[in-house]
Amino acid sequence: MTYSKIIGTGSYLPVKTVTNFDLEKIVDTSHDWIVSRSGIQERHFAADDQKSSDLAYEASIKAIEAAGINASDIDLIVVATTSPDMAFPSTACILQHKLGITNGSPAFDMQAVCGGFIYALNTADLYIRGGQAKTALVVGAEVISRMLDWNDRTTCVLFGDGAGAVVLKASNEPGIIASKLHSDGSHHQLLKADPKISMEGQAVFKFAVNSLSGVVEELLEQENMTGSDIDWMVPHQANIRIIEATAKKLGMTLDNVVVTVANHGNTSAASIPLALDTAVRDGRIKPGQTVIMEAIGGGFTWGASLIKW
Ligand code: ACO
Repeated sequence: MTYSKIIGTGSYLPVKTVTNFDLEKIVDTSHDWIVSRSGIQERHFAADDQKSSDLAYEASIKAIEAAGINASDIDLIVVATTSPDMAFPSTACILQHKLGITNGSPAFDMQAVCGGFIYALNTADLYIRGGQAKTALVVGAEVISRMLDWNDRTTCVLFGDGAGAVVLKASNEPGIIASKLHSDGSHHQLLKADPKISMEGQAVFKFAVNSLSGVVEELLEQENMTGSDIDWMVPHQANIRIIEATAKKLGMTLDNVVVTVANHGNTSAASIPLALDTAVRDGRIKPGQTVIMEAIGGGFTWGASLIKW
């Protein structure tokens, strides 16, 4: 049986850091309000000339280096983004060019907003399991700062820019054990960008906690596992209160949850690979451990992936 194994991770945050105190100067808000409601201390904003593909490139280079492969080995690129460089071509095609990959292999974007990385990972996993790819680059990259409504203080303080990437390789040993994806378009008005982000915060909060704990339970049950089999949960980094409430519903403490939201806010599709890369590089996630990732995004879309590291 062929599995996909994550053999390298990388991430990138733009240089410009915007603290809650910086936001206090331009929005009617406070550091204390933002921290108490979201856990966010600071976020990073891309420079005017930086696009999602630039952030994706920086993260990808690090993931490729960590994987010990050449960029030319990559035979599939999937970029999860809700803030593409342009309407077309895809950010994945632009990234392929920036990485100097000329082997003609497929490259495409995936749009599931904050759920995008799980959707992209699952898609690349299916390509590898099905024998259509051997070495895939999966990226989450966002310049979501350009979609913020600076007149809406309930949303503009929550988001930031960034990118994260993983290299997946075909392997005889597990890897990605299983993933579950869901969507429910009846809620598409609750969280949207048309063209600026608007959100019904409390409704999103409730739905997020129930659906995230639900999909994790569904995946664990399918694999005859329980929360005690999980070494690390890597959740979408939207809001510390959603992360805490989801962990509590699953009977987990934050001791086994990777939390990086304080340093970058909600980076949409980039948040899971950003958190994952942090925990891999600081040695928390180790070979042989079991990791579960979960995310929800506008749509709603949501899902989880279970991984043997
Ligand atoms: N600074 C100061 N005060 C604020 C701010 C702000 N930035 N924003 C709102 N307030 C005020 C409100 O005006 C309100 O004041 P009032 O009581 O005088 O009317 C008060 O704070 C409470 O407002 P609520 O909207 O009720 O605040 P709530 O406790 O619901 O927190 C929040 C708002 C943080 C948005 C919360 O609903 C939430 O976390 N929702 C989920 C958001 C999220 O993470 N979404 C993304 C997840 S899914 C994804 O990533 C795609």
